[in-house]
Parts: sequence; structure tokens; C-alpha cells
Amino acid sequence: MCGIVGYIGKKNTKEILLEGLKELEYRGYDSAGIAVLQHDNFESYKAVGKLVNLEEKTKDFITQDFAVGIGHTRWATHGKPTELNAHPHLGESSYVVHNGIIENYAKLKKELMSEGVTFLSQTDTEVIVHLFEKNLKSASSALEAFTKTISQLHGAYAILLVTKSEDESIFFAKHGSPMLVGIDAQNDKYFASSDTPLIGHCTDVNYFEDGDYGYVSPNAIVIFDKDGNKKNPRFTKLTQNKLSAQKNGFRFFMEKEIYEQSDVITDTLLGRLSDEGIVFDELDASLFDGINEIKLCACGTSYHSALSATYLFERYAKIKTSVEVASEFRYRSPIMSKDTLFVVISQSGETADTLETLKMAKAAGLKTLVICNVDNSSMVRLADACILTRAGVEKGVASTKAFATQVMVFWMLSMYVAKLKNSLDAKEIAKQIALMRQVPLSTKVSDVTHEHIKRLSKRYLHGHGFFFIGRDIFYPLALEGALKLKEISYLHAEGYPSGEMKHGPIALADPELFTIALLPQHLLYEKAKSNVEELSARDSTICAISALEFDKADDFIPISSCQDYMLEFFEMMVVLQLLSLEISVRLGNDVDMPRNLAKSVTVE
Ligand code: F6R
Repeated sequence: MCGIVGYIGKKNTKEILLEGLKELEYRGYDSAGIAVLQHDNFESYKAVGKLVNLEEKTKDFITQDFAVGIGHTRWATHGKPTELNAHPHLGESSYVVHNGIIENYAKLKKELMSEGVTFLSQTDTEVIVHLFEKNLKSASSALEAFTKTISQLHGAYAILLVTKSEDESIFFAKHGSPMLVGIDAQNDKYFASSDTPLIGHCTDVNYFEDGDYGYVSPNAIVIFDKDGNKKNPRFTKLTQNKLSAQKNGFRFFMEKEIYEQSDVITDTLLGRLSDEGIVFDELDASLFDGINEIKLCACGTSYHSALSATYLFERYAKIKTSVEVASEFRYRSPIMSKDTLFVVISQSGETADTLETLKMAKAAGLKTLVICNVDNSSMVRLADACILTRAGVEKGVASTKAFATQVMVFWMLSMYVAKLKNSLDAKEIAKQIALMRQVPLSTKVSDVTHEHIKRLSKRYLHGHGFFFIGRDIFYPLALEGALKLKEISYLHAEGYPSGEMKHGPIALADPELFTIALLPQHLLYEKAKSNVEELSARDSTICAISALEFDKADDFIPISSCQDYMLEFFEMMVVLQLLSLEISVRLGNDVDMPRNLAKSVTVE
């Protein structure tokens, strides 16, 4: 998502900031900016779109002497990708850049506005700089004002702030978003939100921990921990390999993205959960006025998340919901009635088939909503309303974290509609929200499980095919598990509803037919188990995934015991992704760039 850089020293500050931002381009962004303080004078430049636009704007700006600078690439979350919303954000004599989300920004903004502060942007970030300047008025130092400011922020953040009141320092704070500082041979200091901008400049870096804050000046790196105790920096050696740094040490982007799911789901949830219900600031509640039905349309993995949504919407929101593969919907003369909310789901927002169905729905006068990961994409621009999934850039062609965040958004949306339509009582909604808060934990990859799957994968490299089976919402998960395996292993795999096997597919059962069985403890366990027993009786090789031991399984991947089937869903999702990954690795395939596939399918 967003990227941060910072620099204090005598080298060419502008170039260092721009080069650093370029190294973060792979994370995706829609605008960028820098602010440099030299000779007691601030210069700031911002541009929408690619970094070349910012380079063009700064071409006459020269930095030669000592300067303090910060820079940012922004991936819009609060407010459109415009120049005004781009970082750095200015107060009267300070600038700030920020990654993450300030959950209590609306309240802080209201207070500051009532005191006469004018806001220029729609971002949550701008409150930080105004709050800091307000605190500065009554503080004895910039550090005191900064410390107070941090204590007033709720949410996740990595922050850099520069101010004329302390013109040789960069103030920093980290809570929930990554940030590190490095030094070069001349003792100049560099900040970044990930390793890559520092490679080539610094050999030693200090990764900040959550709760760390402080400042860096030409001669000092001053760090306080979350309790305000001073601590020494802990320098470690920085890799000099850029590609491996982008992968954060993982072998593949897909693997990194599987491991990121816990964090990106935290982003998906940020600011959207309250004890009373789901908060989608981006939705106007009138969107659901007069709506009696929801129609979902998508392709591939996004179609699978949409299929999951049909179970959630009908179960919780009690609203008639159906889903269709976009390429089919386009050409079958569908009936579209105006009491239907038309929802498209897409990681990229550019998939041609899905985009076309959105155009059809608009032309038919239906209200439209897009669930998407890329702001300002074609679908986001076209739909009446949009919910961003906040998964960050997904580089692996096989979608993982996009799917996870889509399902998360659908679960939240089902509660949002349930509240609007009074189909669930407050107690049940509060219970579901409490469960949602546990998803980041359910999606954390366990080393033990990953190691187990790595070992197990060697037994699944041959055979004449795989069946992934599940019931209810675990059926779309089975489809997704099969798709992941197909895409990156090139082995034949199919997803089936467990109860459907006896109607034909079971004829294929033999020891060389691998069944990956999803057996959630909290949803139709006995029914699903009987279906697996039928396959086991016909000698299919069974790999069961469950919290409950299953003696008919040849292999067993345990998940943790939890309170609800949705938590089982997310934990099993991780297991299926890892299983595909490890089978593909053993087969020697290119995990991130599987043959014949493209990341964004903009053709029919
Ligand atoms: C599978 C995968 C594809 C996409 C599909 C739709 O791993 O990535 O099946 O899900 O091409 O793409 P989006 O979601 O961008 O519309």
C-alpha cells in the first residue's frame, strides 16, 4: 500500500527521496509527494499518478546542503487520489507523512475544526500535523508535543514529521505499520517503510517495534518504547539483494502474500468495526433502500468469494442473493430488475468480463456497488459505490490475500445489511463482530502447520486428480483450493460440494484420487464427515483438514479449535494456499508467474 521515506544529511536530499520512493513503487500507489526543509525553508511537491509526474514537478528544485526531507507514495484509503489528499500534509510550519489508518480521526478533526483549524484534505493523516501544532503551543519542546500527539492517536501508523521548530530532526512513530531507520558511512540517516529504499545506502538498520517513537538528528537516534522508556537502537545487517528484500525474505511473492493476510485483514477491518455494528463510511445507507435482492458477478477467485457471500447474505442479512460468473452473465440476456443491487467483485477492478457486467447493470438502471482492491480502477470509477478491500498490491498471479479480504468485506457487509434490515438482533451482531476481530489471528501462519504441509506435500505430486470437497460456505472454499492448486501445480483439481460426490464423481475414487476434505467442527460436521467416509470406503486417498481428529484420513492437517465456522474458514483457507504452494515448489514450477496466466485479464 503506501510507502514512506525520509533522509537527514548533506547529500542530494531530493534525489535520495525520489529514488527511495521508486523502490517502493512495486507496492502500488496513486499519488506521491515530498517535503524538504533546508535553510529554514520548506519546499513541498506533490503529484497524482506515477512518480515521473513528481520528478517533472521537482526538476528545477535543487538540494545540495544539509537538509531534512520526507516523502510518501499514497494508496488512497480516505479520500480520492488527488494532489490535495497526497502526502506530505502541511500544518503551519510542519509536514507529516503517514501509513496506516487513524481510526479516531473524525473525532479529532471535528475538535480541531471547532477550534478554527482549516483542513485541506479528506485524509485521516492531516489531523496528525494539526494536532501536533496545537500541542506545540503549550509544550516546552517539539518532542513533548509529538509524544502527546502520538498518545492521542488510535489505529495503525508509521509516521514521519518534520517541523521548523526543530529544524534538524525527523520525528517518527511506529504502531502497526512497518518502519526502519538506517545509517550510511557518513552517519547520514535514512528512513523507510520497507528495506528496499535503504539498500545501496545503508548496511546497518534498526527496525522499529510497535510503540516506538522518538526523533533522529544529525548526531542522534533517540528512541522511546511504548511506555516512554528510552532504548538504544538495535542495528542489524541489511541484505543487499533488492528482489529478496521486496519479498521480505520469502521465496515467492505468493508465499509473502499468504503470510501478509493477517496484517492486511487488520487493515480491512480498521475503522470499520464498532460494538454496535459495521461502519462503512464510504456507503450511503440509502444504497439499500428499495433493494430486495443482491446479484453478485465476478470471475475466478473473486467469483469464489462472491459465492461465499451468497451464504452469508442469505443466512445473516436474510436477503435473496445470487451469483454468476461474469463471462456467462454477459451473453445470456439476464433479467435485471430495479430492486436488485448489482455487486461486482474484482481484485484489479479491470477484468473485462466483470467490467462489462457492471456496464450492463448501469445501463439497466440498477444500483451498483464494487468490492475492489484498486482505487481509481475502471470499476471503482464506474460503480455508484465502492468498498475497498485494502489488501495492498498483490504480485503473485495466484490470488491469496485479495480473496481473504474480499470474504472479510462480504462478512462485514452481511452484518451491515443485517442491521439495516433488522434481520439480526444487536446481541448477534455484536457476537459476529467479536468473531471478526479474531480473524487476523486465525490467518496467522503457524510455523508448525507450514512445516507439516511442506513435508506432506511430497505425497501429492502424482495421481490422476484432486477433489476438494466442502459443504455450505466451505464449498466455495473448496473451489478456491482447487483453483489455487490447478493454477500453480498444473495438476487436475476440482472443487465439489461434499454431498454431490455420490451423484457421479465418486466413480473416480481410487487410491490415486486425492480428496482434500474440509471438515469444519462448527458447520455440518457429521454430514460432511459421512461424505468423506463414502470416499474413504472406495479407497480414495484422503487428506482431512479439521480441528477434530478423523481416523478415516490418510493424512490430517489440524487447525485450531475455535468458536465459529468462519474462523475455521479463514484458517483452512491458509492451509489450502500453503498446500498448493508447497506442491508447486516441489514440482519446480514458477509459483509467482504460472504458465498461461496473467494478473489482470483485460480481454474477453
Ligand atoms: C486466481 C486469479 C483469477 C482472478 C480473476 C479475476 O488466482 O487470480 O482467477 O481472480 O482473473 O480477477 P479480478 O479479481 O482482478 O477481477
